[in-house]
This record gives sequence, structure tokens and C-alpha cells, in this order.
Amino acid sequence: MKKIALSFILFGVLYFLESFTINFTNSNKPIPKNISILLTKHTCITCHNPYKRVVGPSFLSISKKKYNAEKIAALIANPQPTDWPGFPPMNPIKNVPFEDVKKIAKWINSLE
Ligand code: HEC
Repeated sequence: MKKIALSFILFGVLYFLESFTINFTNSNKPIPKNISILLTKHTCITCHNPYKRVVGPSFLSISKKKYNAEKIAALIANPQPTDWPGFPPMNPIKNVPFEDVKKIAKWINSLE
């Protein structure tokens, strides 16, 4: 009986250590709270994930294009679907304040 209890404890410890190393080596950082609020408020998050393709390209792949905030603001208001072959066109979103776009753009370009 003791042996069984011991192996359960050992298993628990190993499991704990493993989840720790997975988190530790995982470079996919969670979205910062203030950015997450903006992505939700402006509905970006319904079509974009930081690291995975969903309806739209991941923010990580968008970051590779090295757009500045002005360019991203222009693309949100007036998307250019030909930039992303194989994706459906993004709906124009006209009412995102530039202050918010600046924060979102800075975060997109910080992804790696
Ligand atoms: C209805 C789904 C949808 C929503 C909501 C959405 N996007 Fe997109 N987005 C897409 C798709 C699909 C593409 C790729 C096709 C395109 O560019 O039209 C895209 C492309 C982009 C691009 C790349 C543009 C380019 O030409 O390279 C940026 C930047 C972007 N989205 C940012 C945002 C931001 C920021 C928001 C929130 C304000 C947002 N998107 C909301 C679907 C969406």
C-alpha cells in the first residue's frame, strides 16, 4: 500500500516538474492585459490569434511585415486582402482610435 502511495506522489512531482518546464520553455507569451482588452473591444481577437492562423493570419506572421502604427491603422480601415493570399478579406474597421492602434502595433512588433 505504501509503495502505491509513494508512486502516486512521485508521479505528481514529475507531472508538476514537467508542466513547469513546458511553461518555462514556451516562448509564446500570453497577451498583456491592456492589449487583450483592446483586441477584445475592437473584435480583433475573434479573427486573430497571436501565434496561430485563425480566420486571419497570426499577429506573429503580421509582425514579420514590420508595419509601423500608421500603416497598421491604414490597413485596419482599408484592408488589402491581396497581401494575404489564401485568406478571406478582412472587414474594414473604421472606428479604432489611433492611440489604440499605436499600442496594438507596438505589441504586434514585439512578437517573436
Ligand atoms: C472578421 C475577421 C477579422 C477581424 C475582426 C479583424 N481582422 Fe485583421 N485580418 C483578417 C483577415 C482575414 C486578414 C487577411 C486578409 C486581409 O488582409 O484582408 C487580416 C489581416 C490583418 C492585418 C494585415 C494587413 C495586411 O495587409 O498585411 C492586420 C495588421 C490586421 N488584420 C489587424 C487587425 C486588427 C488590429 C484588428 C482589430 C482592430 C483586426 N485585424 C480585426 C480578419 C480580421
